[in-house]
Amino acid sequence: MNDGVNKNRRRLLIGATSIVSAVGAIGVAVPFVASWTPSAKARAAGAPVKIDISKLEAGQQMIVEWRGKPVWVVRRTQGSLNSLSELDGILADPASVNSKQPDYIPVGPNRSLRPEIMVMTGLCTHLGCSPTYRPELAPADLGPEWKGGFFCPCHGSRFDLSGRVYAGFPAPTNLEVPPHYYVNDTVIVIGKDGGKV
Ligand code: FES
Repeated sequence: MNDGVNKNRRRLLIGATSIVSAVGAIGVAVPFVASWTPSAKARAAGAPVKIDISKLEAGQQMIVEWRGKPVWVVRRTQGSLNSLSELDGILADPASVNSKQPDYIPVGPNRSLRPEIMVMTGLCTHLGCSPTYRPELAPADLGPEWKGGFFCPCHGSRFDLSGRVYAGFPAPTNLEVPPHYYVNDTVIVIGKDGGKV
């Protein structure tokens, strides 16, 4: 089996576009471009999005739409969580001092309400391309220090699995974290701070 096929398998994405009234409308494994199809209704409404992450497995990425933007939900492995703090020395803003995220989101390496689940806006902070999920370790094109993360195909910016940008690349800040909260262990509301929908 060739490298391209293997790479595609590793990049397994779960795509979904669900709105508040459609909890659990998780799609099948499809590439990002096909999975994120903004609906005019969702764009216009800007309503919070309620998603079911019960089928999201370790290492997988789910993509939902909120206000016309892709929002990524990634379930990180324990191994990738352990490696996050090792990257601080090569990141532009490891403590997310200059990054957009709600004040209730920790600014440490995890940048998340729950360590294993990372929620972030999937648009590069340089010129707004959507980076590619690259969860594999040390792939040939990204080098031996790569611990998994996101690569922007437009001008090469790199982000770790917390959306923190590598130093020396065009993106000026870490990926944004949208407002969100957990309804329970498996349901997240994107686009709103804690409270009832
Ligand atoms: S838009 Fe991502 S590096 Fe320029």
